[in-house]
Amino acid sequence: MTINRRTFLTSTAAALTLSGTDLAAARSAPKRLPILPLSDLTKDVPDSVPLKLAASTHDFGTGAASATLGINAHYLGPVLRAKSGQTLPFRVENRLDEPVALHWHGLHIPGNVDGGPHQEIEPGAVWAPDVPIRQRSSTNWFHAHTHGKTARQVYDGLAGALIIEDDESLSADLPRTYGVDDFTLVLQDKAFDASGRITYTLTGEVFEDGFEGDTLVVNGTIAPVAQTVPSGLVRLRVLNACNARFLDLSLSDGSPLAVIASDGGFLAATVETATLRMSPGERYEVLVDMARDETVDLRVTFPEGEAEGFEIVTRFLFGDPVMTALILNRDPSLPRFDGSMPNALANLPRPDRDAAQRTRTFHLNMGEEEDLAALAHAWGNYCGEGGMGINGNPMRMERIDVEARLGELEIWRITAEDMLHPFHIHGCSFRILRERGGPPPDYAAGWKDMVAVQEGVSEVLVQFDHRADASTPFMYHCHILEHEDCGMMGQFTVS
Ligand code: C2O
Ligand code: CU
Ligand code: CU
Repeated sequence: MTINRRTFLTSTAAALTLSGTDLAAARSAPKRLPILPLSDLTKDVPDSVPLKLAASTHDFGTGAASATLGINAHYLGPVLRAKSGQTLPFRVENRLDEPVALHWHGLHIPGNVDGGPHQEIEPGAVWAPDVPIRQRSSTNWFHAHTHGKTARQVYDGLAGALIIEDDESLSADLPRTYGVDDFTLVLQDKAFDASGRITYTLTGEVFEDGFEGDTLVVNGTIAPVAQTVPSGLVRLRVLNACNARFLDLSLSDGSPLAVIASDGGFLAATVETATLRMSPGERYEVLVDMARDETVDLRVTFPEGEAEGFEIVTRFLFGDPVMTALILNRDPSLPRFDGSMPNALANLPRPDRDAAQRTRTFHLNMGEEEDLAALAHAWGNYCGEGGMGINGNPMRMERIDVEARLGELEIWRITAEDMLHPFHIHGCSFRILRERGGPPPDYAAGWKDMVAVQEGVSEVLVQFDHRADASTPFMYHCHILEHEDCGMMGQFTVS
């Protein structure tokens, strides 16, 4: 690890802002879980689905108005709920004073509606893709994907959840009353200045880790937030929308989290885990059984990797990194979901590596080497002093890195140096064969579009069922958004 000194400095700075009285008050004050506005299209698709991207202000709970970006809202976007088989006639209007691209993360759709960096919307303009929804029920999201500007735009608020239902999910014996026993949680970390406004500053040093705030925010409000729920099972659809932070989720009462779905759909069966690690960009659905206790807390820690040297010191000095994200309070008078914890959920074929027609290799690079940095800068990536790339090449809008064939099964083998990277591929769901040299955790053994990469080899089995040509190729990249912006991204066509 070469990052100890920087980690120490970052943590020290974080601890200084932490002592601000506004922030301390905001962290202890009881707040309610904000229920993100639901736009339910499952029964009826209107002629157009408007999404207006605009600058605004938002109070995260400190009493101060932060400058933010929102999608039909002051901060973040709505929860869109659609059904497989529908085609969504989006009307994305850019009311910002800068270009923006809006990507549908997790959707299996053709490249020409994917919303990658080739589909920038100019200020004042409208992008109106018809997005065909043809995939399993799953929790997806949409977020800014503007070349070199993704990290700041997402940090400022350009993100929302997109839930896909299908006949199976709608008839499954699971809680589904939005805002009652079915909640969408958008987890993020923020840094606040002394006046209680969010800040986002990048230095070359911060670039390397990606931007990390010291304050946990749930649906746009500083944690902890509380919600009254019925007894019985409560369903949480969780999105890690942090720019760079991995999150470890657990329950306060020591009982395991019951994971029922990953990025791309239901698991084969409920997986119980004491800790659920979520990378930036990942989604999981969990069930919490409120029959046991009156109050259950969902906890989050910011994992620091193997603590060593200064990290041990900073943890000792600045305290327990365990944060309460959400407090669920049981109210037995509320109408409850009557079902029990499900066992079998979906038919998941065993991934068959021998069926793959080819293997591609990707190595994630970051470094101070002059050539990598020079290339990254020359090609419009937004970087500090260093450079980042994949297979020695920073992202270049004019270059296609991979040409994949429609319907063929491939193995993508991904490796990295040093730190942990969350790798994402557009336009598909894949299965993880190996993650960091070993089998994936059971909760990551289903349909995924994110895989963790560090020491050891990560391998996914992937098939592309939608076309993308060279004018609107698909992306693959690290989902630490500062790494993506700095060039740890590549492009592929499918034909
Ligand atoms: Cu969520 Cu290309 O990203
Ligand atoms: Cu994506
Ligand atoms: Cu990365």
